[in-house]
Amino acid sequence: MSKLSGRSNDYRMSHAKVGYGKLYSNFYSKGTYSYCIWQEEQKLLHKIFRDFDLYKKKNILDFATGTGRIINFLVNNFPDAKIWGVDVSKEMLKYATKKFRANHSIKFLLGDLTTDGILQRKLKKQEINIITAFRFFTNAQESLRLEVLRSFKKISDNFYLVFNIHQRPLSFFFIYKMYRRVKSIITQNSELNRFNLLSLSHIKKILEGEGYTLVKTYNVTWTIPAMFKFFPKNCNLLLKIVKLPLRNFIPSETIVVAEYKQKDVT
Ligand SMILES: C[S@@+](CC[C@H](N)C(=O)[O-])C[C@H]1O[C@@H](n2cnc3c(N)ncnc32)[C@H](O)[C@@H]1O
Repeated sequence: MSKLSGRSNDYRMSHAKVGYGKLYSNFYSKGTYSYCIWQEEQKLLHKIFRDFDLYKKKNILDFATGTGRIINFLVNNFPDAKIWGVDVSKEMLKYATKKFRANHSIKFLLGDLTTDGILQRKLKKQEINIITAFRFFTNAQESLRLEVLRSFKKISDNFYLVFNIHQRPLSFFFIYKMYRRVKSIITQNSELNRFNLLSLSHIKKILEGEGYTLVKTYNVTWTIPAMFKFFPKNCNLLLKIVKLPLRNFIPSETIVVAEYKQKDVT
């Protein structure tokens, strides 16, 4: 897990290194904890898109698209939509572009949406109505979270934002973070301290501060990757465990649906 967390203080640089694309793709390969959780996330994404009647929407941006995990879901479920994937890492996009080379409804754009005016103007013309952003907000530093929420408003006046908080504090992740802190003291490895947790109340506060409305949340699981070691490597069994009522009480990962509608200026 630590291998995929940000190494620089600025999360923009976190996946820039050559070799990260491969590392990230392997992180989601069959048999891994992440692969199993991704099965549950996809079920919930279907539910979300049905609940909010989003399958009718035609223009989707997958922000921080990485190697194209979410794009893969979007492509298979929005056959008539135009899909854009934006990422600041050339290394990650290299993998995504390779995967979807033959699909002309997807366009990958390299750049930092928070600072790149040309990129913002290009996307503004596309009337984006859904933005997805997975494994981003938890890892990003607070200033970047805010800059990203602001940049979305520059590219669309009216959209749904669907994203996950993949490490919530009122869960076993809290214990895991403490464990890393102690280990960092013993081993004098400050890298271990780079492990963000993000609470629902905090993200709600910053969403509302930026004029978004948090509409609904969907708890994915209460387990954490470190616990996977104690379960048999059986995805179906893990998925049953993931769905225990515990996910309503100590959720470790949640998908959030927020909405942004620009207010009429009269
Ligand atoms: C953990 S990966 C998530 C990939 C993908 N969304 C997923 O869930 O599989 C986070 C990605 O955020 C990207 N990123 C960080 N800051 C960014 C920014 N300002 N603009 C665009 N992408 C950014 C990184 O380059 C990295 O590829």
